[in-house]
Amino acid sequence: MSATTNDDPLFAPLTAGAFELPNRIVLAPLTRSRAGQPGNVPGQLNADYYVQRAGAGLILSEATNISQIGTGYALTPGIFTDEQVAGWRLVTDAVHAAGGRMLLQLWHCGRMSHESLHPGEAPRAPSALPCDSCQVFTVDAEGRGGRTPVSPPQEMTAAEIKSTIDDYAQAARRAMRAGFDGVQVHSANGYLLHQFLASNTNHRTDGYGGSLSNRCRLLFEVMDAVLAEVPAGQVSVRLSPLFNLNGMADADPAETFGHVTDHLSRLSIALLEIADTDVMAGAEPRMESMLAFTRARFDGILMLNGGYTPERARAALAAGDGDCISFGRLFLANPDLPERIRRNGPYNEPNPDTFYGGGAEGYTDYPSLDR
Ligand SMILES: Cc1cc2nc3c(=O)[nH]c(=O)nc-3n(C[C@H](O)[C@H](O)[C@H](O)COP(=O)(O)O)c2cc1C
Repeated sequence: MSATTNDDPLFAPLTAGAFELPNRIVLAPLTRSRAGQPGNVPGQLNADYYVQRAGAGLILSEATNISQIGTGYALTPGIFTDEQVAGWRLVTDAVHAAGGRMLLQLWHCGRMSHESLHPGEAPRAPSALPCDSCQVFTVDAEGRGGRTPVSPPQEMTAAEIKSTIDDYAQAARRAMRAGFDGVQVHSANGYLLHQFLASNTNHRTDGYGGSLSNRCRLLFEVMDAVLAEVPAGQVSVRLSPLFNLNGMADADPAETFGHVTDHLSRLSIALLEIADTDVMAGAEPRMESMLAFTRARFDGILMLNGGYTPERARAALAAGDGDCISFGRLFLANPDLPERIRRNGPYNEPNPDTFYGGGAEGYTDYPSLDR
């Protein structure tokens, strides 16, 4: 049975902080490795891609580097040069003209990086713990791309932690200058902020490691810095508490992420996104087991992600598990996803061969129903 727009919870408008979402179908952050070269600058092709998806209740941008040293994947955009700000302005103007709303996802890869992306400097991490199973995407001198084992990281000094917090603040400021409606702090998927939170990647003995509150300190200080630039009602955070890829294995996710959630709740941010990202690697959905220490402890708008079909999304909203759903691969392959959900399909299949790198193929050429 196909739900009509009137009784479909995915099409109920939603107020989230300062945002009025016309529907609850969010474009999940999706790295596509198609930033303009040189300089990792967004351009017209990227604007076209996001405009195609402007029917989303909200667009989360692909993860965007806050600094050169925080960069972990080739061809991914940044927000730390004037050229990148101007490039993103092209994108946000186009998305706004198409009636959309868009947040920039702020990214520092930490140890998920390769030295070639910041020559002469090893990746920075909470602790000098290499990840043998971790790979990132690099491009060689001839322009050939491929997956490469990460370089061994170095432990961040106190001064480097301080400058990183400042990089987050500057990136948030630049994002607003670039016309974004707000920012999402990427604290998921095994990148820098997650590496500080998780017990297996943070073996520091200073104020940023050891106890739970110490492991959370960097994220909380980054939040203070970002909130000094962007009002809380325009800020989101992404967490992936049970993420076990990229060498992540926190000893007690319920304790760690319950504590993080309590804190974010007090900050009154617009949206907290809980991502069950392991489904990308074929894992069974585990959102149910995350709700007890996230939904139950967050007094605000909760976004759920990971392996949602429209049917499962409706059920989650109807059950009150979350307030909106972000779709990754389904939205990647279906630029008019809200319209397709409204019409009960059909859906294009995503092609993993064109997820990362390349041009328009597999990026802006997925057909809409009306073309
Ligand atoms: C091609 C691709 C790129 C991704 N890039 C990002 C990213 O930049 N930031 C992020 O937080 N998650 C990223 N993810 C994870 C997705 O946001 C999402 O969590 C995952 O795809 C599961 O949701 P889905 O089942 O709806 O696809 C990426 C996933 C894919 C498939």
